[in-house]
Amino acid sequence: MFEAIEALPPDPILGLSAAYKKDTNPNKVDLGVGVYKDESGNCPVMTAVKKAEFKKCGEEDSKAYIAQAGPESYISHTRELLLGNAHPVLREGRVSCVLAPGGSGSLRLAAEFINNNAPGSKIYVSNPTWANHVPLLSSSGLQLEQYPYYDYASHSLDFDAMTSSLATAKKGDLVLLHGCCHNPCGADLSHAQWQIMTDMALAQGFTPFIDVAYQGLGDGLDEDAYGMRLMAEKLPELIICSSYSKNFGLYRDRVGSVTIIAENSETCAAVGTQVVSTARQMYSVPPAHGAFLVAAILGDEELTKEWNDELTEMRDRINGLRRMLVAKLTEIGVEKDFSFIQNEKGLFSFLGLSREQVESLIKDYSIYLVGSSRINVAGINNSNIDYLAESIAKVL
Ligand code: LMR
Repeated sequence: MFEAIEALPPDPILGLSAAYKKDTNPNKVDLGVGVYKDESGNCPVMTAVKKAEFKKCGEEDSKAYIAQAGPESYISHTRELLLGNAHPVLREGRVSCVLAPGGSGSLRLAAEFINNNAPGSKIYVSNPTWANHVPLLSSSGLQLEQYPYYDYASHSLDFDAMTSSLATAKKGDLVLLHGCCHNPCGADLSHAQWQIMTDMALAQGFTPFIDVAYQGLGDGLDEDAYGMRLMAEKLPELIICSSYSKNFGLYRDRVGSVTIIAENSETCAAVGTQVVSTARQMYSVPPAHGAFLVAAILGDEELTKEWNDELTEMRDRINGLRRMLVAKLTEIGVEKDFSFIQNEKGLFSFLGLSREQVESLIKDYSIYLVGSSRINVAGINNSNIDYLAESIAKVL
């Protein structure tokens, strides 16, 4: 049965961690996988998470299955974090939320739910988009089509190209938008551009499918939710896939959600039953641990404050690193203009280098980044900034 199976190359993003670990160069720099790192290069467990974990360990008296949709408290806190606690759709009972195994699990669950109900639906994804969107969504049976998003020459969002391409999206189609901190380019929609996308969705009838994996790491928890809250208010239908990997640092615990806004409360209740039934076909019930931690933190004022303060520190550090990289490259005399990096948001930006230059950074300088020249800004620190900037200057 297995004789004809061929080995696959390493994953283009996750494979970078293994290569970095094997590298013996003492100057090596890891700008690969998108995890937050502190000044010493560690991806830390957040203090509020540790506290909630100790508490949970003491209190937990059963490992029986949790509810199919996830714990009630997790669901209500998630809805409020995404939409704000006074959002009209919450009052109207039009929001169905289901716990899923991480951001990827939520994307796949939502895609399977759509494909079960409307097989072969078209989903427009940005070019570029997170590399894993393509296999995750297309394996469910959805038909992917790309819309232009980033202009590599001007290092900015090409909104005209995006809107003219999406002019063909119609009722029954989905349009995937990155809620904030676009992965991989870091270029986000402005408030005015969110408004235009909302008007287009209303006029053309397509359903936005928002991936929000970095809420709180761009401009702030509420600021980063601007687009999805606007769409939730103005549109009859919306799908939000969210992740707690990055803003709670719960990567390995796999905590995410599928949140669906439907036209009325009956449809919303029906959608909820279909999403949990889809999950039942895929993995039965969701993992509980990380969801309990999120609920414990968001249900406790002091822990929420502690978590929010740490998240703010992380965001400020990332934005500081963006400015530091641009300043350092200028200081050492690099002529190419990298100032776009300090205007982008979240963990990622493209350096704007060729495949050969990226290859050289990896092979000759042990600086690990994705082939597209995407860097994880959080991997920069005071100890590696000089080496990084000089290496970039050399490959240029
Ligand atoms: C990334 O884009 O680096 C992260 O979201 C990790 C992943 O799974 O690819």
